[in-house]
Amino acid sequence: MDQAQSLREKMNRLQAERPRQLQDPLQKTQYQHHPSSRVITITSGKGGVGKSNFSLNFALGLKAEGKKVVILDLDLSTANLNILMGISPRYSLANVLYDQIRIWDVIEKGTEGIEFIHGGFDLQHLMNFDQSKLDYFWNQLNELQSYADYILLDTGAGISKELVDFILASDETIMVATPEPTSIADAYTVLKTVMSYTTEQPKLRLVINRAQTYQEAVETSRAFQHACKTILKLEIQTLGYLLEDLHVRQSVKAQKPFLVMYPNSTAAKNMKQIIYSYLPEFTRSGPSSSKGIRGFFEKIWSRRK
Ligand SMILES: Nc1ncnc2c1ncn2[C@@H]1O[C@H](COP(=O)(O)OP(=O)(O)OP(=O)(O)O)[C@@H](O)[C@H]1O
Ligand SMILES: [Mg+2]
Repeated sequence: MDQAQSLREKMNRLQAERPRQLQDPLQKTQYQHHPSSRVITITSGKGGVGKSNFSLNFALGLKAEGKKVVILDLDLSTANLNILMGISPRYSLANVLYDQIRIWDVIEKGTEGIEFIHGGFDLQHLMNFDQSKLDYFWNQLNELQSYADYILLDTGAGISKELVDFILASDETIMVATPEPTSIADAYTVLKTVMSYTTEQPKLRLVINRAQTYQEAVETSRAFQHACKTILKLEIQTLGYLLEDLHVRQSVKAQKPFLVMYPNSTAAKNMKQIIYSYLPEFTRSGPSSSKGIRGFFEKIWSRRK
């Protein structure tokens, strides 16, 4: 083996030993222009209904269809998406704002190469930064925007001013609810609160999780849609259903997404169906315009000013 070859092999080995180090796509590849990432808030009224599992497996499903997806964990109280993926984040989006770290350095690679950013700060604090820090933050968000097709925001449960802001600032919202009356009532309260802050129609989709049967799922979603339409004058499309499936719990225990660990499970099949119903290329609807991640934070910033 000549010296150059041995050096090359050593370099390759060193590269392989740094699996968590993300490659800066701007240096690595041609700068790919995306007009804008689509920012999707994933939320619920009641907690523990399956938002984080949905976010992770939805992200994987989109990735399997060739989409570039980044998940941003904005759940400040019980952020635990990283646990579902078995990683502990070193940095968070807060470091971009406070310490001027590059966005590429806060993106973690989780299970199956899913890219993930830990939020780690209260958006209220955006107001307290001087212009130069904010400019840096907006620029870094621009880079993220040029990189990802979809940015999924996993949020905490419960009605808060913050959640209302997220829903109004994102391109669309997926509301996750179970057929339990408490979950449905809380989901309804979230939307009612949102509507008290806006005259616009936010783009909303409903996912019914943990239904015992398809019939129960369909009946729950129809009743919810009907209440939104007649009382709140709000259209909410049903994106799909996930049945109660023991494989979900087993995959949580194993810290591996069910789509990967149990690809033939009911939950995985349900998720694939949701992906087909979601992506514009499989449906007749064309792609809608997006404000993107910078638009998302700017809107929150302007609502708080
Ligand atoms: N389709 C399903 N079938 C069976 N169990 C499920 C299903 N979806 C979720 N679960 C169970 O519900 C638990 C909570 O899910 P998850 O952490 O995704 O909820 P969450 O809405 O993100 O909670 P939080 O509000 O605390 O953030 C999971 O650990 C799993 O055990
Ligand atoms: Mg969660």
